[in-house]
Amino acid sequence: MPKDPVETTEVFKPNLFADKVLLCSGGGSGICRGMVEAMVRHGAKAVIISRSKDKLEKAAEEMRKATNGEITAIPADVRKPDEIEKAVQATVDKYGRIDYVINGAAGNFLSPFENLSYNAFRTVIEIDLIGTFNLTKATFPHLKASKGSVINVTATLSYTGTIMQSHAGAAKSAIDAMTKHWAVEFGPHGIRVNGIAPGPIGNTVGMQKLSRGNEKFNTIPLGRIGAIKDIEQATVFLFSEGANWITGVTLVVDGGAWLNSPQPGYPDIILNPPKTRL
Ligand code: COA
Ligand code: NAP
Repeated sequence: MPKDPVETTEVFKPNLFADKVLLCSGGGSGICRGMVEAMVRHGAKAVIISRSKDKLEKAAEEMRKATNGEITAIPADVRKPDEIEKAVQATVDKYGRIDYVINGAAGNFLSPFENLSYNAFRTVIEIDLIGTFNLTKATFPHLKASKGSVINVTATLSYTGTIMQSHAGAAKSAIDAMTKHWAVEFGPHGIRVNGIAPGPIGNTVGMQKLSRGNEKFNTIPLGRIGAIKDIEQATVFLFSEGANWITGVTLVVDGGAWLNSPQPGYPDIILNPPKTRL
């Protein structure tokens, strides 16, 4: 019988992150919103950034109501260093410090290589890979001051040759590489850098865009699709003092899914790419 996901408050102490400040890209929706909400439930103050002001403000308001915590929304595009630097400065002006950074902003869609335009490939690389660099670069002085910690949100796409995902797989595996480089370079400053690679997570835009509506999840060894709560648990653990000697690791949170990955539609979809977008 698969085990249901549980709340982080059932596992970790309530005030784990009191007086700490989290900055999260992509924190206004989906998985990263859950990661932010969990950190706030454990006492952190949070700033969420993404492009859509309305979406961010609504999410911040809902999370404030749900947690009674402190959350600020700052619109910024991770592709634009000037916007990111301003968001980082506004965070420090308001809260005085940055302890934790989550690089979660991402863009993705299914596309056979043959249908992928030059600009489509570049767009995903710019959001995921360069966006992760930009936010980490802009927050680095503050992480140095706080001896903070970074989580890069990636994926298991490149662990196998997942079809129609060469753009996102390339971006995410390059981020996994940066996690290791940064772990070694930032370690002497007391900064830990890790990754979380979620498997398929229900009720998310990512799942909606990538699942094509016909996946069966009976191949997942732990017997169920993932929940946002599963990623919240990994986040609280990796930022907590329990992970004090863990750096440079990308923690796969996927119920064993990638180890047992069928590819629906293969190889017909490659030999006869669809004329319309998937
Ligand atoms: N299939 C193939 N190509 C696609 C596509 C699709 N479904 N969607 C967009 N593209 C192409 C566009 O046609 C364009 O290329 P072109 O100029 O050669 O035509 C390029 O990608 C950029 O698209 P654009 O809409 O201008 O980019 P954007 O910066 O406004 O949006 C996206 C970025 C495309 C990634 C958009 O889906 C997005 O904002 N996603 C965020 C949410 C998300 O994807 N969440 C899931 C995370 S796993
Ligand atoms: P999501 O809700 O669409 O989250 C992506 C976020 O990124 C959105 O809030 C979006 O907000 C933001 N964003 C996109 N482009 C941006 C930009 N240029 N600048 C700033 N912010 C930008 O999707 P999700 O499914 O929860 O995915 C969250 C993370 O988990 C992603 O890194 C994804 O790759 C990863 N992941 C998801 C799954 C899954 O099953 N869902 C599996 C593996 C990995 P705006 O539109 O407001 O900018």
